[in-house]
Amino acid sequence: MSAPPDRSAILVNDLSKHYGSRDHPVRALDHVSLRIPSGTVFGLLGPNGAGKTTLIKVLTGITDATAGEASVAGFDVRRQSMAVRAQIGWVAAEVILDDDFSARENLWFQAKLQGLKGWESRAEDLLAFFSLADRADDKVGKFSTGMRKKLEIALALLHQPLVIFMDEPTIGLDVSTRRMLWEIVTGVHREFGVTVLLTTHYIEEADALCDRVAIIDQGRILAEGTPSELKGRVKADVVELETSEPLEAARLSALPGVQEVHAQGNDWTIRVGTSDDFLPRLFATIRPDRIRRISVEKPSLETVFLEVTGRRLGQDEPIRDLRKFYAQMQRARR
Ligand SMILES: Nc1ncnc2c1ncn2[C@@H]1O[C@H](COP(=O)(O)OP(=O)(O)OP(=O)(O)O)[C@@H](O)[C@H]1O
Ligand SMILES: [Mg+2]
Repeated sequence: MSAPPDRSAILVNDLSKHYGSRDHPVRALDHVSLRIPSGTVFGLLGPNGAGKTTLIKVLTGITDATAGEASVAGFDVRRQSMAVRAQIGWVAAEVILDDDFSARENLWFQAKLQGLKGWESRAEDLLAFFSLADRADDKVGKFSTGMRKKLEIALALLHQPLVIFMDEPTIGLDVSTRRMLWEIVTGVHREFGVTVLLTTHYIEEADALCDRVAIIDQGRILAEGTPSELKGRVKADVVELETSEPLEAARLSALPGVQEVHAQGNDWTIRVGTSDDFLPRLFATIRPDRIRRISVEKPSLETVFLEVTGRRLGQDEPIRDLRKFYAQMQRARR
């Protein structure tokens, strides 16, 4: 029996991309392997310089990989780059709209650029889908940021691609425009059946929007899965506590369910199986009036990121002590 067709929209196999010289290479991608199923919204989550844009550039054929292979919609990105281009749309971070043209004229221009035929009804469908039909003949220069974003996505969808790439689609947008864009991405994916690969360094965006997420850091994929699978890997809550007077670490570590205790003065970071069991035990051990501050962090993509990278996303400077704490924890578990 022949193997079932691979429904993966994107396959990446042991891909590396080095910039710089042979002696001092910058490993923008370091042995990356990924399988992105058709019809998913897939998020690449990682900090600045992680390699997100580089991966998109390799997959869209803008740059060649140093080693390894990748295919998009079944076509090899290196050997069949024209076929790949016909199947993909790209929503770039830089503005691609012509402000002096109306929305409809921008679509027309895009169709001419790509040599499309019979695109007119698709363009009207897209204008309607993005609620731009009423403003279709207004110059884009007068559009709000949200409207511009919608039109950029409409342009990327005009030639009916199977996969669209969005590099940091919500960077610099205010919260409400960002949320609107999340709805659009989900809607586009449902309505047009496209696979979406987007990059982000917003944890909540990856969580809210993506069916699957890969955490990328320093060119390497450190974890991949659905947001709930990823969170399920962190089998612990983190309780942060500030006490009004010194406390003996042993008193905390002796409590059932406590996995790790880390102290910095009267500030405590305690990793526990579940805070629901731990908190009553804590309050039975320490008088509540000696607790100045307490917070509980349930497993989130943030704690997953912290666990796999040793630092929090969005903090250029890692919190030194927490980093050490997590490094120790990881070593202990090996
Ligand atoms: N054209 C280039 N020449 C040399 N080095 C490059 C080039 N493009 C990217 N790099 C390096 O490759 C690494 C990955 O960069 P990349 O742009 O892929 O990261 P990113 O995850 O997209 O980051 P950001 O969130 O800042 O957009 C970085 O160290 C970057 O400096
Ligand atoms: Mg980038």
